[in-house]
Amino acid sequence: MCGIVGYVGAQPALDVVMAGLRCLEYRGYDSAGVALVTTDKMFTEKRAGKLANLEKALVDREHPTATTGIGHTRWATHGAPNDHNAHPHLGPGGRVAVVHNGIIENFAALRQQLESAGHELRSETDTEVAAYLLELETTRGADLTTAMRSVCQRLEGAFTLVATSSDEPDRVVAARRNSPLVVGIGDEETFLASDVAAFITHTREAMELGQDQVVTITSHDVEVTDFAGMPAQGRRFHVDWDIVAAEKSGYDYFMLKEIAEQPRALADTLLGRFIGGRLALDEMRLSDDELREISKIIIVACGTAFHAGLIAKYAIEHWTRIPCEVELASEFRYRDPIIDRDTMVIAISQSGETMDTLMALRHAREQRAKVLAISNTNGSTIPRESDAVLYTHAGPEIAVASTKAFLTQIIACHLLALYLAQVRGTKFGDEIGEIVHQLEQVPQAVRDVLATVEPVRELARELRDCTSVLFLGRHVGYPVALEGALKLKELAYMHAEGFAAGELKHGPIAMIDEGMPVFVVVPPRARGVLHDKMISNIQETRVRGACTIVLAEKGDEKVATYADVLIPLPVLPTLLQPLVATVPLQVFSCEMAAARDHDVDQPRNLAKSVTVE
Ligand code: G6P
Repeated sequence: MCGIVGYVGAQPALDVVMAGLRCLEYRGYDSAGVALVTTDKMFTEKRAGKLANLEKALVDREHPTATTGIGHTRWATHGAPNDHNAHPHLGPGGRVAVVHNGIIENFAALRQQLESAGHELRSETDTEVAAYLLELETTRGADLTTAMRSVCQRLEGAFTLVATSSDEPDRVVAARRNSPLVVGIGDEETFLASDVAAFITHTREAMELGQDQVVTITSHDVEVTDFAGMPAQGRRFHVDWDIVAAEKSGYDYFMLKEIAEQPRALADTLLGRFIGGRLALDEMRLSDDELREISKIIIVACGTAFHAGLIAKYAIEHWTRIPCEVELASEFRYRDPIIDRDTMVIAISQSGETMDTLMALRHAREQRAKVLAISNTNGSTIPRESDAVLYTHAGPEIAVASTKAFLTQIIACHLLALYLAQVRGTKFGDEIGEIVHQLEQVPQAVRDVLATVEPVRELARELRDCTSVLFLGRHVGYPVALEGALKLKELAYMHAEGFAAGELKHGPIAMIDEGMPVFVVVPPRARGVLHDKMISNIQETRVRGACTIVLAEKGDEKVATYADVLIPLPVLPTLLQPLVATVPLQVFSCEMAAARDHDVDQPRNLAKSVTVE
């Protein structure tokens, strides 16, 4: 959350920084700003609202042709999203400019110290404190790098700070603790960004910074130290994604493109996992003996990733016979969970940076649990701090509402469950091979669903003005219902609830009135009793006036009679059904948001990568 860019090189810094911010706008879009620096001159411009507002403001202003600059796109935490609170923030003399991602938890005490020393701060942000402290250090004679190190030692919380000074216009200095920051190393130019997307059109050579490190970049040099000034090393890596993956490629929205990319994302996540009849993970720092000792699994995740965990629980318990709990990462560490060295904690996170998930993971590690990450972002913090990693290969996901990452998280959990079953011997090799074969059919099944979703789009347009939508499911269909409702809330800003269909009669049924749309995810016919119970639930809503929109496998004649709208799904084993049942719900929300004139890719108040607790 919050996107940060820094640049030192030979190109006009404003162009590079603005292009970078455009690629990072998914991280926050409450306000945006830039600072450009030349000898003895600091230029800043910032505006509330989306980047487009800043772009407009810049058209009317003369600015220096600087080759050093920083920029920021904000998701507000401290201080309302207005021009005043937008970043960059300046020190008292306007010589140092700072952008920040994270929360400086002791900012109130630091602010008070500054105010009692006679300083009048101009914003309500925590960031401005850092700008003041940095500039004051430089006034006492420190260079910007030294100032950054000593200021960071006084800060508590999570932060990436990027600073520039008109006294040292050939460099940008940054620091990170618990928030992301990568360096891009080009030819006579160097970049800093929250995410490689910001510089990938310039260079694919990148460096990831460790915890509590300070980096100083010039056009030709990168110097890394810890907060005490001891030399440190960043980890170099090559970015191998395709630039097209981060572009809309003719789609109206990234979300539509990412929904369409799901078959490929699933196939890529499955690729090369099952060789010579054995499954493999990406990184494994646990022995088979340790895996055999696991007596409990706890999945921690947030948002859509949490729903992937809820779905995974069914397969994990069924295939491995290990009890599995699924918990919201933000709740986990505060309830004193029972964990020991025989517990495996699985952290699912597309970005690999979600602070709630990271803190849950750290808590689990402190209790000596084994930690495994499922992430879409190579080199991000959550995989780096885990004992084992399974990467999803969804490619960059830009739309804030997660789609392709979600499906790949589910299938990655399936692979993990089978891996554990293989190591622990709870399934024979040929049984595992058979399930892998079924998983391999899923990309085509998703392609089939995508080919038939046009009526779902029409339905969204028809229901454009409704005020409330319910989603019902049983078994693995229950988390699918939760995800359907979450998507609609995120994108259409509409009241939507997901329920376990059996719970309907214990309360939610009271909400149903004439014409209310109720989506129902029906289990495959092979599930016998469960399938029949769901048919009863559909009838219960229908007789109370609901408009039933039924997702059921193709050829399910029994259910068709009770559906006002029928959305056919490819026939798959029960545990895999969520991988196809979710897709029409994603399409519905996307279309609903568009029909209600909302910003599909950047819903209000949200950010894709939430790096605060
Ligand atoms: C944010 C996003 C959600 C996402 C959640 C978890 O809330 O808006 O789409 O599911 O974070 O993100 P993660 O990167 O940890 O999967």
